[in-house]
Amino acid sequence: MNHDEPHAHLPATLLLGDIEVRRLGYGAMRLPGKDVWGEPDDPARARAVLKRAVDLGINLIDTSWYYGPLVSNRLIAEALHPYPKDLVIATKLGGKRLPDKGWAPFIRPEELRKGCEEDLRSLKLDRIDVVHLRYMPTDVPFAESLDAMIAMQQEGKIRHIALSNVPVALILEALNKTPVVAVQNLYNVHGGGGFLAKVTHAEVESPDAVLALCEERNIAYLPFFPLVVGNLGQHSGVSEVAKKHGKSPAQIGIAWLLARSKVMLPIPGTSSVEHLEENWAARGIALSAEDMALIARG
Ligand SMILES: NC(=O)c1ccc[n+]([C@@H]2O[C@H](COP(=O)([O-])OP(=O)(O)OC[C@H]3O[C@@H](n4cnc5c(N)ncnc54)[C@H](OP(=O)(O)O)[C@@H]3O)[C@@H](O)[C@H]2O)c1
Repeated sequence: MNHDEPHAHLPATLLLGDIEVRRLGYGAMRLPGKDVWGEPDDPARARAVLKRAVDLGINLIDTSWYYGPLVSNRLIAEALHPYPKDLVIATKLGGKRLPDKGWAPFIRPEELRKGCEEDLRSLKLDRIDVVHLRYMPTDVPFAESLDAMIAMQQEGKIRHIALSNVPVALILEALNKTPVVAVQNLYNVHGGGGFLAKVTHAEVESPDAVLALCEERNIAYLPFFPLVVGNLGQHSGVSEVAKKHGKSPAQIGIAWLLARSKVMLPIPGTSSVEHLEENWAARGIALSAEDMALIARG
């Protein structure tokens, strides 16, 4: 398997601290059942997606103990443990699930610690390579949550700290205390805001200023909802460019992100081997300035 076939928008890899990863990861949030809740209809299919991801050359998987809860992580361990040496598993702390399938903050120091223990146990790891502090505005000061992350890093449970759902001010506040290897915020062909950001409470002030800061500081930017949750076909610019290249809207959405910035590292989610392969192949699509402009127009 050649993992290093042409990458239309270089670089082909990025550094997360001292770890090199290919510039397209896999988001494991689509592995559990509907609404990111409970078991998938076909767990063998979910494990096949994970195995194929590694086989293709993907060496970054984004997950969290609260997907399922504890379903994505268990499937990852079942499919891939003992893990390939170069596989990076990134997790998120700061959220939890409610019995009604809702999402809620879990961001107090003792809650972050509990989440980290759940990740370590369910992923069968002694240390997690990259852990995002997934911020949600609450009555807990950001500094308190960040200090808890730094303490867990000093204890050897976390290798590198990353942030998620954060504006420029919080990234700068964090950088005063610790290196930050990645920022994971909502971003796709619609930019970093819009309807999807609003309904998912993922709105962050000045999303493009966050991306610019990541470029300036060489921080990887992991756009979540890179495929607009599977709705890229409704974007007229994307559809037009997809037709022109003979590619799918999802592939054009990924190619656009890779061309948009050198620090962009998309983590599309899928429960399908076919979609996974299609998404991986998008790395080879070269978009022209004209294509980029057409997509930017909407
Ligand atoms: N930090 C955060 O707060 C946060 C929030 C949300 C997500 N995330 C992370 O970001 C990752 C990506 O986000 P996401 O999975 O929610 O959304 P997404 O990647 O924008 O879209 C995933 C959806 O697109 C569909 N899809 C995937 N590939 C496709 C293709 N080639 N053609 C057509 N449809 C396709 C999938 O359906 P199929 O299963 O049928 O392929 C799935 O429903 C997540 O998995 C998670 O790791 C982080």
